[in-house]
Amino acid sequence: MASQSRQPGIGVGTWAWGNQFLWGYAPERDDPRLAATFARCLERDLLFFDTADSYGTGRLNGRSETLLGQFAAAASPLHQGRLCIATKLAPFPWRLGRQGYRRAFAASRARLQGRLHRVQLHWSTARYAPWQEGPLVDGLADLVREGAVASLGVSNVGPERLRQLQRRLADQGVPIRSLQVQLSLLAPQPIQSGGVAEVCRELGIALIAYSPLALGLLSRGDDPSQGAPAGPRGALFRRLGPKIRPLRQAMAELAQGRPGGRVAVALNWCRAHGAMPIPGLRSPEQVDQTADALSWELSPAERERLDALVLAEGAARMPANPFQSA
Ligand SMILES: NC(=O)c1ccc[n+]([C@@H]2O[C@H](COP(=O)([O-])OP(=O)(O)OC[C@H]3O[C@@H](n4cnc5c(N)ncnc54)[C@H](OP(=O)(O)O)[C@@H]3O)[C@@H](O)[C@H]2O)c1
Repeated sequence: MASQSRQPGIGVGTWAWGNQFLWGYAPERDDPRLAATFARCLERDLLFFDTADSYGTGRLNGRSETLLGQFAAAASPLHQGRLCIATKLAPFPWRLGRQGYRRAFAASRARLQGRLHRVQLHWSTARYAPWQEGPLVDGLADLVREGAVASLGVSNVGPERLRQLQRRLADQGVPIRSLQVQLSLLAPQPIQSGGVAEVCRELGIALIAYSPLALGLLSRGDDPSQGAPAGPRGALFRRLGPKIRPLRQAMAELAQGRPGGRVAVALNWCRAHGAMPIPGLRSPEQVDQTADALSWELSPAERERLDALVLAEGAARMPANPFQSA
């Protein structure tokens, strides 16, 4: 039975849907499975989908949005009414000024066949062009005020910048609804003292945890350094795999007798910290395991046990996103 808790739910990440370089996507082989994945999400009440205009490599750029648009169009009217699809627009250098996102927004909305409920700044430009993101975000606020999209979010923004953007948009009467940052047992910085989770709580901004399974490192079989995936993820698995054995052991103990196994432990740790995880899903089986996590929660003592392991000095860490601002 689903719990009555006020912890956040779970959303779905779609970075892999169209990405050949990191995720080995192949259209003919993968699209039927992704359609079944989407359908299973709706059956299991996972209704928040995260995508981006930059998802899809090379000639497949925008593929994730295109697939989501096709799948959502085929959903029942009941499900369509409950879906929330959030895209992220990249502030590539040539997207400048208050009108800088207009064309990108229209293109994303067209790929999504009009089903676009939230638009997000994909990353902060604070580290390389701090003047760029303000006008771009103002342009997103215009889209909300005009009724072109229901809500606005930001991503890869740190505590300082989040406060600045929140003030800027509050002056225009548009709230920031969500902040999306890397957050997992191997990237716990947002929930540390002085981290961005505190600012989100204070300002009433929903926190979204991306890469909550550390690109699969937390969900793989018992020894992730064995049988690491091909490509760039493999190097990461070989480097961090051996360092996380005590953490994996603790996760296995907490998973015992509970639906969803270790995946559910990783996701429920995010939820216990007030964040909605958006694991990257690409099979109906993964959807089931993910949705099973919603049937239980970590107790405060169990959460603290994991906190002590992952916040310890020298604990294994995922590489930080280079565009994450202070
Ligand atoms: N805002 C940003 O800058 C940003 C950056 C990164 C990601 N994101 C968003 O966050 C989403 C999630 O992050 P992510 O895709 O990077 O990584 P992730 O969710 O941490 O990991 C995805 C991996 O988890 C595995 N997995 C998922 N569910 C599983 C299950 N039930 N059992 C076993 N393995 C499972 C998948 O395995 P397989 O390989 O076997 O499929 C895949 O390798 C993305 O899709 C994207 O929407 C946003």
